Amino acid sequence: MKENLTRRNFITTAGVAALAGTLVAPVAKGAESGNKLKIIGISCSARKGMTTAKAVQAALDAAKGVNARIEVELIDLGGLNFAGYLPTPPQDDFAAILPKLQDPAVAGLIIGSPSYFRSLSSLCKAFIERCAPLREPKMLLADKPMGVVAVGGFRNGGQELVIEQIQTAMLCFGMIPVGGKPPAFQGATVLSTKDDISDDELGLETAKKVGLHVAEVALRLAPKAN
Ligand SMILES: Cc1cc2nc3c(=O)[nH]c(=O)nc-3n(C[C@H](O)[C@H](O)[C@H](O)COP(=O)(O)O)c2cc1C
Repeated sequence: MKENLTRRNFITTAGVAALAGTLVAPVAKGAESGNKLKIIGISCSARKGMTTAKAVQAALDAAKGVNARIEVELIDLGGLNFAGYLPTPPQDDFAAILPKLQDPAVAGLIIGSPSYFRSLSSLCKAFIERCAPLREPKMLLADKPMGVVAVGGFRNGGQELVIEQIQTAMLCFGMIPVGGKPPAFQGATVLSTKDDISDDELGLETAKKVGLHVAEVALRLAPKAN
């Protein structure tokens, strides 16, 4: 009896497996809709499309290559007009940004800032302050990875300080700060020379390593694809 049951179970299981084999379409694993993992890059330079935006884009490009589930989007804050935290949120350009960050598909962030006097830009600080609604009533960014790309006009222009400042602030959102893959341990430290980063091989490599690490951690933490 026991043997019969075991045999019957085996036949049923085998039948289902065979049927599944005929029904499953040959799509790339994890590329099905609804399973996307969105990595959003934010460029916090006052100058739209300049070196900070380019460095963040380099990180996003690397992130995208990690897996078919990864989608990326760059939000360039350059030229946008919004204040930092105010008790009554003003109607300004931030209104268009918030919904993008509230999207449940957001699986990680890459925040880029120029080094201004060895600190994050005021635009970056304003951005982080205005993200306060992402903490209440629900910690929407909790347990998601975030990496930082810092760009300076000097090789040692405070980039690592900028990274640390942004990582510290994002801890308040429950995010998981990640550096870049080794040896970009702290994050991306990019040198802009005459408004150009294309010759900074070392810096661009750190940007890519941040993108890779954010994507890999996002993937590891995400629910399995259907
Ligand atoms: C107000 C101000 C302060 C700056 N302070 C620093 C600094 O402390 N260290 C540094 O390496 N570069 C400094 N720079 C240079 C910028 O970090 C650099 O030009 C950066 O690439 C600007 O980013 P963007 O090309 O996206 O605008 C400063 C630039 C400005 C405008």
